[in-house]
Amino acid sequence: MTAVTQTWDPDRYRKNAGFVAELGMPVVDLLAPKPGERILDLGCGDGALTQKLVALGCNVKAVDASPDQIRKAQEEGLDAEVMNGQDLTFGPEFDAVFSNAALHWMTGADAVLAGVKRALKPGGRFVAELGGAGNVQTIRTALRVAVAARGVDPDSADPWYFPTPESYRAKLESYGFSVAHMELIPRPTPLPGDIDGWLASFGDSFLMRLDIAQRDEAISQIRDSLRPMLVNEDGIWVADYVRLRFAATVPV
Ligand code: BEZ
Repeated sequence: MTAVTQTWDPDRYRKNAGFVAELGMPVVDLLAPKPGERILDLGCGDGALTQKLVALGCNVKAVDASPDQIRKAQEEGLDAEVMNGQDLTFGPEFDAVFSNAALHWMTGADAVLAGVKRALKPGGRFVAELGGAGNVQTIRTALRVAVAARGVDPDSADPWYFPTPESYRAKLESYGFSVAHMELIPRPTPLPGDIDGWLASFGDSFLMRLDIAQRDEAISQIRDSLRPMLVNEDGIWVADYVRLRFAATVPV
């Protein structure tokens, strides 16, 4: 099976996933950015939170693996560059590395941490939020079941890394970080539309392995199986998000 990666359409992303940046403010608060700080926004997407950091007076470099998202961020006037978070090329130039809702797409967590550490000045901080253990578990299970029923190996289709707080703390410490904050936060999240919009935005790695007829069938099956679990009494789809939020520093 050839690799199937997620595609990022900035307009579709803003429509179906604009809440990602809106709900990202607590991790900005944990970062506590100071005017003039040099910050790396790792996995910046369309740059919505990068803009907030710039507005707070920070000098921000933004990177993301998606050329389409980076183009959008550049159109907003941001200093943004295509770079895979598992291959960061920076030396020790940043006061902080910040990341929201991106690290769970980078299954090479060791390569990420090595690159973040290289990018930080002595005493620099790494403050981020990603999907934690149990994140979107009902949706993930439905996707895995739907593709497996159509002959696709769910393990090779599954693109996500949702670590436990214990395992991520141990990983940070193994790279010399000192962990000041580590919290697993269940955050049921109302979606702006139905589950189809979420699947269209985030389900490529599973669904693009199917031909178009199989894909339509799989989406119906997923929608029907999730409706009783994820649609609330007001008819709103609520996804079972779980965040892992942390702050760590490298030695001075
Ligand atoms: C998340 O932000 O937790 C997430 C978003 C899309 C797919 C998987 C996880």
